[in-house]
Amino acid sequence: MKTILIIGGSSGYGAGVKRFFSAVGYNVIEASRSGDNHLDVTDNKAVTAFFQKLKDANATLNVVFYSAGIAIGKSHVKDKLIEQTERVFKVNTIGLINVLKESFPFLKASAGSFFHVGSIANKLSYVGGADYCASKAASSSIMATIRKEWLGSNIRTTSLEVGIGGVSQNEVAGKAFSQAWVPSFDLNNEKETTS
Ligand SMILES: NC(=O)c1ccc[n+]([C@@H]2O[C@H](COP(=O)([O-])OP(=O)(O)OC[C@H]3O[C@@H](n4cnc5c(N)ncnc54)[C@H](OP(=O)(O)O)[C@@H]3O)[C@@H](O)[C@H]2O)c1
Repeated sequence: MKTILIIGGSSGYGAGVKRFFSAVGYNVIEASRSGDNHLDVTDNKAVTAFFQKLKDANATLNVVFYSAGIAIGKSHVKDKLIEQTERVFKVNTIGLINVLKESFPFLKASAGSFFHVGSIANKLSYVGGADYCASKAASSSIMATIRKEWLGSNIRTTSLEVGIGGVSQNEVAGKAFSQAWVPSFDLNNEKETTS
């Protein structure tokens, strides 16, 4: 049985991905602040400890799906609360790096896949979105770098740059991502059938 680790699967896209992969027979591990396993991705020691536990349990990770992300308010830059801006960057970018770093040995061992939920806000700015848009530009850039750094490791990386969705629709959209992606795998085999 293959295993998917979903970071940020307590709601939204991640919850839809969780539901889909459970339905197709994956072992699903979910982590977030309020989900199945408590994890704050901005706490790098906690992220390291979380992956160490997986290592101690001899876990195999075939897929890591990073859906953790936040936007806080739509204040103009002149009114931004810097603590909020820092929080947005920490979850959307530093948390991503924390998880990428710890995922690498697992995905290398399994020739697995890493998914990141990015946003079209990485290129399209909106009024009040200076921090969110900049953090999404940064997370896309991190993924573009990883694609080069992990070349030759047999790990597949994908950054899904999604458009705006109503929060209540995101779980459905998450299932749609999965449905679009999973047919490229032969679920009965370890190998992907297309690239
Ligand atoms: N909604 C949109 O229109 C839209 C558009 C483009 C891109 N996106 C991106 O899609 C991704 C998912 O968003 P969504 O719309 O599905 O939002 P969501 O329903 O709020 O889901 C966000 C997930 O991230 C988790 N999370 C937040 N802070 C975290 C932290 N510090 N540590 C661990 N987990 C954390 C949340 O769980 P806890 O709160 O339990 O920690 C939740 O499971 C985000 O990266 C977002 O930027 C969304």
